[in-house]
Amino acid sequence: MPRMRLDKLLAHLNCGSRKEVQAMIRAGRVQVNGAVERDPAAKVDSDTAQVILDGQTQHYQAQRYYMLNKPAGVITASRDARHATVLELFPEEMRRGLFAVGRLDKDTEGLLIVTDDGALSHALMSPTRHVYKVYEAVVEGELLPDAEARFAKGLTLRDGTVCLPARLERLPDDAVQRVRVTLREGKYHQVKRMIAAVGGVVVQLRRVQLGGLRLDSGLAAGEFRALTDEELTLLQQPGQESI
Ligand code: URA
Repeated sequence: MPRMRLDKLLAHLNCGSRKEVQAMIRAGRVQVNGAVERDPAAKVDSDTAQVILDGQTQHYQAQRYYMLNKPAGVITASRDARHATVLELFPEEMRRGLFAVGRLDKDTEGLLIVTDDGALSHALMSPTRHVYKVYEAVVEGELLPDAEARFAKGLTLRDGTVCLPARLERLPDDAVQRVRVTLREGKYHQVKRMIAAVGGVVVQLRRVQLGGLRLDSGLAAGEFRALTDEELTLLQQPGQESI
């Protein structure tokens, strides 16, 4: 882990000259990982430390965080010889160093984080962190009457895989059968296989939330935008939803 003096890190973050940031630190205006740090020489991990100056989280300019509304038909990969990829939705000059956090199927739409921050990606995807993910799906077929209870208990998939307790909600919709699924893990084709295990077939799937971060409903499919500071904080400290 790259350890660096706090004053040097703040200067790298364009918060001021070395002298200026030393004064800011001594004045108690800087927090590191939630606690005020008054020592300019304190060593911090420049990759993972959360540094706040006057209430504002500071980010390396090199660290970029985007919310993409992934359209169906593109694959979650950086490069592919045969298929269009999510990174190709970004202008070529922006792509260097960026990657998608986790994976959505080719036909799945919705919230995907694209960043160059490996530590955040690792934290969000870690199987032990149980960051929750919320999907909305259009489903065909007749779901078992006790499908919700089976999700809540922890489903066993057709191949014997046991899932953590999850939530299934039937959403009101006059035209189609629509459900919301909340999970705390990310197994291969998990939503499709869980719905299959209770009698349905997913015909449309969209991720609408990751941890505390919701997909911006103003983003059309294929569009992206930078995360705000508040949104990034939501991702860095993803709350636990009780399922
Ligand atoms: N579950 C699926 O089945 N597919 C996805 O893309 C994500 C979750």
